[in-house]
Amino acid sequence: MSLTQLRPTENAASTAARVTAQTLLEKKRLGSPIVALTAYDYPTARLADEAGIDLILVGDSLAMVVLGYDNTLPVTVDEMLHHTRAVARATRRAFLVADMPYGSYHGAIDEAVTNAIRFVKEAGAQAVKIEGGAARADLVRRLTEAEVPVVAHIGLTPQSLHAMGGYKVQGKTLAAIDRLHADARALEEAGAIAIVLEGIPREVAADLTAHCEVPTIGIGAGPDCDGQILVFHDLFNLTFAPTAKFVRPYADAAGMFSTALAQYRRDVTTRTFPSDSESYHLPRELQSVFARDHRLARKA
Ligand code: KIV
Repeated sequence: MSLTQLRPTENAASTAARVTAQTLLEKKRLGSPIVALTAYDYPTARLADEAGIDLILVGDSLAMVVLGYDNTLPVTVDEMLHHTRAVARATRRAFLVADMPYGSYHGAIDEAVTNAIRFVKEAGAQAVKIEGGAARADLVRRLTEAEVPVVAHIGLTPQSLHAMGGYKVQGKTLAAIDRLHADARALEEAGAIAIVLEGIPREVAADLTAHCEVPTIGIGAGPDCDGQILVFHDLFNLTFAPTAKFVRPYADAAGMFSTALAQYRRDVTTRTFPSDSESYHLPRELQSVFARDHRLARKA
């Protein structure tokens, strides 16, 4: 194998070393927070990568925030691959994780391994994410043996929407907390490189983080996890719905887009867009000839 780098460097992010599973582990060891975010397309992934986001997840939240479904269940492997490819083209530094959609790893393990390998081989992901606890340990082991790094995801797992009876904070009884600990232990023993903790009490997330060898990445799990992840569209007020308690909106992209769209509409309807300076013109030497001939042609 040649170690020659074939792709020339293009931007600041591309000159920084690529984040790997080992980088994430090192960050946990150093107590340096991991910054993670979802992205689903080239421009937003590129901005996230250039902003120094450590981990970009092509989340199956794609189903809701980009494709307009009510929940994450309908999105397909092919749709996830399509978006993962776009994000991969934009990502130079961040660790790129693709979510395995509902149904793509819930049947036979061989089929799940085949599906997961597609995300690495065809779409350029560095790892896949799967939801579920100890019940997924065999699958995590098989994927790890197949050289597919796995990010696990426990607590509130949106693909279990119907089984959970809604989106509910998990880990609120001592028995449920014990189950979360058993899940985390089984997943990391099976080879998971990181664990997303979603929708669990802060105290429980802190305790899990202290007991886990691998990094925990929280969403609605308080500030004591090894890292934090948010959905891109939540961060920028682009979800058209009230956000969850744990979301901090950092900018109002919906407001910015709406203002610009209203201005564009006004400018077109009042014929102030495009202006003369935004128009192409004939070469100067043709202008008078064209004006004369055109006038004559119109008169004839
Ligand atoms: O699909 C997603 O966006 C996720 C994150 C919320 C962790 O799974």
